[in-house]
Amino acid sequence: MIKAESIENLKSIIDIVDVIGNYVQLKKQGSNYAALCPFHSEKTPSFVVSPSKQIFHCFGCGASGDAIKFIMDIEKLTYPEAIEKLANMYNFKLEYTSSNNFVHIDLLEKVNSFYISNLYKNKEALNYLKERGLFDSTIEKFQLGYAPGSFEQIQFFKNANLNNKDLIELGVLNESGEYPRLIERITFPIFSQSGKIIAFGGRTISNHPAKYINFTNTKIFNKSKTFYGLNFAREHILRSKKIIIVEGYMDVIMLHQAGIENATATLGTALTKEHLPILQKLKPNITVAYDSDTAGINAALKASKLLYKEYFEGGVVLFDEGEDPADAVKKNKNIQEIMNNKISFSDFIIEYTLKKYNLKNPVAKKDAIEEIKSYINTLPELLKEDFANKAARFLQISPQFLKVKTKNFSQNLNSNKKIDIAEASIIKTLYENPEIMNEIVEYLTPEMFKTHSYELSEIYKENFENPKLIEIVLRDDVKIHDLKTLKNQIRKILIPFYQEKITQIKLNEHVETNKKMHMLKMLNLKLLRLKKGELVESDSTF
Ligand code: UTP
Ligand code: MN
Repeated sequence: MIKAESIENLKSIIDIVDVIGNYVQLKKQGSNYAALCPFHSEKTPSFVVSPSKQIFHCFGCGASGDAIKFIMDIEKLTYPEAIEKLANMYNFKLEYTSSNNFVHIDLLEKVNSFYISNLYKNKEALNYLKERGLFDSTIEKFQLGYAPGSFEQIQFFKNANLNNKDLIELGVLNESGEYPRLIERITFPIFSQSGKIIAFGGRTISNHPAKYINFTNTKIFNKSKTFYGLNFAREHILRSKKIIIVEGYMDVIMLHQAGIENATATLGTALTKEHLPILQKLKPNITVAYDSDTAGINAALKASKLLYKEYFEGGVVLFDEGEDPADAVKKNKNIQEIMNNKISFSDFIIEYTLKKYNLKNPVAKKDAIEEIKSYINTLPELLKEDFANKAARFLQISPQFLKVKTKNFSQNLNSNKKIDIAEASIIKTLYENPEIMNEIVEYLTPEMFKTHSYELSEIYKENFENPKLIEIVLRDDVKIHDLKTLKNQIRKILIPFYQEKITQIKLNEHVETNKKMHMLKMLNLKLLRLKKGELVESDSTF
């Protein structure tokens, strides 16, 4: 976590007029500034910034808050992400509490500087990148480097006093700590959304059978939640409301070099459910631009199925046989034109599912219909009919044949379990910031939740792909808290929980008086501390 005093220090140097001035044109108006509101469309300015109060307010749409809130809203960032963004803007070095993962990030920065310096010492490596068509400025922007031989690296780690345990934990060294994970490879630092290095990938330049090696998941890096290049692409995505998802590092880099800066990549894995919350927040139109080989097409099909089901708009772009976006850029092809020529997700799903079957053969056609039907079964009710009609047209059959059981309305309501926003917000906060879990788990146990016990226990088990969790995370009405609010919200749940415990114990005739008194005393102490604003450890004695 970022230290509270560090946030206060940052707050004391930021000026809301500067911050907002980067996004909208401010005009002095008396002691305040006015502008057209960036949060709703208007013709006359009703958005006011007060330098003395350091707040903004829109009299039109009601948006208001301080500089941090402004950054959260305009950049769609969480509280800590907005703090980090502001710190970057002001070149301010944030301090983190020692339990925090971010301490380690400095270590990865050091390793990165070492790799970068080695790139410029190694002609072959630098030439390789030049031959692939990368400009110097591109190599610099993506901070590409070169991991030299094992011995040289270990020597450097020693001389720089880097802790072996940390190097293992962050993935730089292999599990036994004997070897660096990347040896004699071009290095690609992988950044978090706020631009901190969280892992590396490395490409061989000597035809090693493993073309790329990526760091395994660590406590700060989860491959299936990360988009490579998103730190650079983020603002372009927000501005254009479009994202391009490609397969590889080089695709992202070459597209950015060609001026297509809303490109990001999934890291050697297909798009997973865990990627969806990030996309849901940005709400872009999505272009999936994978390689045109069998693996790429299958991955695009999987991604389309996932995205269509979640109501994302967009489609798939296919490159020429054996070509990927990086190749197309290198060949100077008109990328914009290729990107505009995409096949919508639903068309792509239908076309490429059916391609596998010889539809002239009635038996194969029946199997094809079964496969389409089973996908329709997984769709939300609203999409079922549209999709079935399209598929029927393609198959030249009556939509009747694709009719699937639709739930009636009342069944639907029943399956929609009711949501408790307070509990759900705690779950969403932990989902988005799993590193806080350690701080929370001793106070809050699943039995303390009335509605979402199951989801809380799943979060603690880190089953992030559980659909029940995804369902909560994707809801806009469920907010993510900062740590202070989170703790307060937990207190609000603990107080009635312990009050109820007290009542139960008082009424329990099977506990002997002495023990009862003792238990009541402990519980009342807990309540007192809770009411004073502290959190109290849960214990299993009661
Ligand atoms: P590709 O094989 O398409 O890589 O795999 P690429 O980016 O086109 O490779 P070059 O450098 O242009 O030849 C796409 C992604 O899959 C992962 C990497 O993340 C890569 O960028 N991958 C690929 C691996 O993790 N390991 C591999 O051996 C190959
Ligand atoms: Mn490729």
